[in-house]
Amino acid sequence: MRDNRDVKDYIRTIVDFPHEGIMFRDVTTLFADPRGFRMAIDQLLHPYAGVRFDKVVGLEARGFILGGAVAHQLSAGFVPIRKKGKLPGAVISEEYQLEYGEAIVEIHDDAIKAGEKILLVDDLLATGGTAEAGIKLVERLGGEIIGCAFIVDLPDLGGRAKLETLGMEVHALCAYEGL
Ligand code: PRP
Ligand code: MG
Repeated sequence: MRDNRDVKDYIRTIVDFPHEGIMFRDVTTLFADPRGFRMAIDQLLHPYAGVRFDKVVGLEARGFILGGAVAHQLSAGFVPIRKKGKLPGAVISEEYQLEYGEAIVEIHDDAIKAGEKILLVDDLLATGGTAEAGIKLVERLGGEIIGCAFIVDLPDLGGRAKLETLGMEVHALCAYEGL
């Protein structure tokens, strides 16, 4: 029997998580399915056929799961951007806005060399605050971001527009309209 499911069919929606009114797009069900996970990695890579990358940068936490698989497929290195205080070496930091308050992400200051070609990866693009902080960190180290790739885009939260204003090429496998 042919299986015509696409990426979105593997993503589970949890209502009212982490708090009331939020529809949480849960990609763990996509990652857990052998066909779904392979499809997601293949589709993330699709626009970049023939492009040479030095490194894939993944945003904590689900961006690590995707970024490792994508980097392996590209024969590129993998660099994590982590929440404050997790990386052991010398870091540079960027603050960004959350729904309530701020957060800080960090990258090792020697993880990217000037001129390296970078693919930035995360599971989901909402307001774009997390990705923007990641972009700033990579660019402060002199990295050249060729693309930003996500599984899910929530366009009504403005992240795609924000990243495109920064000159980024945004690639997402699916979108959910509304908040
Ligand atoms: C979620 C998601 C993205 C970010 C998107 O991560 O995985 O990284 O939010 O939101 P934004 O576009 O509004 O910045 P979260 O901060 O929940 O942390 P986690 O990935 O470590 O669970
Ligand atoms: Mg995240």
